[in-house]
Amino acid sequence: MEKKNLDWANLSFSYIKTDKRFVANYKDGAWDGGQLTDDDKVVITECAGVLQYSQSCFEGLKAYTTEDGHVVCFRPDLNGQRMEDSCRRLEMPVFPTERFVDAVVETVRANLAWVPPYGSGATLYIRPYMFGSSAVIGVKPADEYQFRILVTPVGPYFKGGAKPIVIRVSDFDRAAPHGTGHIKAGLNYAMSLHPIMDAHRQGYAENMYLDPATRTKVEETGGANFIFITKDGTLVTPKSGSILPSITRRSLLYVAEHYLGMKVEEREVPLTEVPSFAEVGLCGTAAVISPVGKIVNHDSEICVPSGMEEMGPVLTKLYDTLTGIQMGRIEAPEGWIKRIA
Ligand code: PLP
Ligand code: COI
Repeated sequence: MEKKNLDWANLSFSYIKTDKRFVANYKDGAWDGGQLTDDDKVVITECAGVLQYSQSCFEGLKAYTTEDGHVVCFRPDLNGQRMEDSCRRLEMPVFPTERFVDAVVETVRANLAWVPPYGSGATLYIRPYMFGSSAVIGVKPADEYQFRILVTPVGPYFKGGAKPIVIRVSDFDRAAPHGTGHIKAGLNYAMSLHPIMDAHRQGYAENMYLDPATRTKVEETGGANFIFITKDGTLVTPKSGSILPSITRRSLLYVAEHYLGMKVEEREVPLTEVPSFAEVGLCGTAAVISPVGKIVNHDSEICVPSGMEEMGPVLTKLYDTLTGIQMGRIEAPEGWIKRIA
């Protein structure tokens, strides 16, 4: 199969229309069989639940070309389960995980020419999403839904790839206690657009959100969880009911413990503890691991000891091991890699 003629090494994290996408419709209490289509346009009523009351959720995962030339994706069952959780919280019908995984495989297989080659630094980003498609005017869930999967080849989420970024402590909150921070609802991202644009205008790559109840504990950024490395090499990551349970973070915890023999702690992280860490990183599907070099909190700054030049040594080891597993250079734990082609 011939690959598309793209400048793979210089792709940014943006949308490119590919050949096929998956569409399934929910009507009269049941999902149809779903199908692939060439049509990238969505036609819905002007009064659709998604347009009036933002009833939508999504997922994000990637397909990779491995060293030996296969195409795989990483733990898609966990994305399927998380989407089920999102749907339940938003009163949307669940698209079952098994069907979710099959649809991911089918969509990537139909777009193999768009999967970046091994070693290019690019990957195929897979975006499953669901929205209320029938009319609602009183505040209530829609009766009909559409589940879709689009794919697009992408480069690094943060400009500069593995170069440390500067972030700021946000004065805006991301998610209320007992709210929707733990699910991947579109509304969480709509409300983050002003804080992220404001951060960018002031020269910061991302926002560090704190817990809204006390504003003393680290939560996450707009699109990634935090991982911290202590001076004695322990991996620490915030525990909170209002952050998204990142699949990358959960995988890194396992890799740290079982591949690298590190101590790992999932616990509350007071902002006052952050200056004592040796390395700070953001982790997520899009971000993979992005090192943080500096955290600005109004007129005070935390300069992370690993500096602004490159990723620190422990995060580098974690990054190399995780991407080694994803690209087939390192043996994966049972069930982590789904072979697509
Ligand atoms: N936190 C937020 C708010 C996100 O949007 C994402 C991206 O999915 C993550 C964390 C990282 O999650 P994952 O590793 O499952 O991609
Ligand atoms: C991801 O990492 O998949 C995300 O969803 C982060 C961002 C693009 C929203």
